[in-house]
Amino acid sequence: MSENLLVQVVEVIEETPMIRSLRLAKLDGTPFPTYEAGAHIDVFGPTGVLRQYSLASDPRDPSSVVIAVKREAESRGGSAALHQVAVGDHLKIGKPRNLLALAEDADRHLLVAGGIGVTPLLSMAHELHSRGAGFELHYFARARDEVAFIDLLENRAEFRYRVTLHIGNPRTEHCGIFESLTSSLTAESHVYTCGPVGFMEQVSTVFAPVVGESHIHIEHFTAGEIDTSGNKPFTVELDSGEVFEIPADQSILSVLEDNGIEVFKSCQEGVCGSCISGVLEGTPDHRDSCLSASDKAGGKEIALCVSRSLSEKLVIELY
Ligand code: FES
Repeated sequence: MSENLLVQVVEVIEETPMIRSLRLAKLDGTPFPTYEAGAHIDVFGPTGVLRQYSLASDPRDPSSVVIAVKREAESRGGSAALHQVAVGDHLKIGKPRNLLALAEDADRHLLVAGGIGVTPLLSMAHELHSRGAGFELHYFARARDEVAFIDLLENRAEFRYRVTLHIGNPRTEHCGIFESLTSSLTAESHVYTCGPVGFMEQVSTVFAPVVGESHIHIEHFTAGEIDTSGNKPFTVELDSGEVFEIPADQSILSVLEDNGIEVFKSCQEGVCGSCISGVLEGTPDHRDSCLSASDKAGGKEIALCVSRSLSEKLVIELY
């Protein structure tokens, strides 16, 4: 279950005309809980709209966290409201959650960011620098004035020689640039990407034959389409022993909620990872965009809001 934190905005930087970064510190001045590079948080904005934002900050500095907020043209009050907050304002956030973890055994880490997707990769770059690991960050943007964190990326000693900005390259040139980066990679390397869906698909297409599909790590901001036409009913048993029938037209999450069981949730589209729970028995039918390919193959976790079961019964442990 989630426990929310009250924070104060302690710094606002207008990174680009559309993106601002907010540095947040806990109201009681205590450090943030430990989190891993690539983590994200729920942010309850001033209008009450809940959105997830990746953390861009250095995970080894728990005194504050940094998020980057892009003002969405179709904002329903989430990003637009966060573009109004000022230093001293208070916000409520969730505890950091991680879905895009760094591999421990990689010989090299390649970070490939498209636009605002640089945010989680920046916290990974901080962590990789602290570990003394071999990494490069390649950041694609349409124009120089659309590059967030440019001062940090160009001028901080730890990033200056690790970061390459690709500015103004049309999409048709991206695959060629990605291919030029494959020569430094081996089957032991890992590639991490965050950005528009089409951009991440291009990254995956080019790098998967080199490093293997399980070494491509993708951070989704929006849900993929889910085909529900073949849905079948199945049974879910909780580790407490309670048993529930999940009909073809209902998710595990909604059945549990209908029965008064509180499950932490946010997007309900398989994107944010809030509802991820443990699988003790049975074979999940993964429909989410948040677990990695290797986590899905491991079959030990499931997103309760969208995923279903390939076996007649799943035994689940709520986190
Ligand atoms: S609620 Fe977001 S993944 Fe399930």
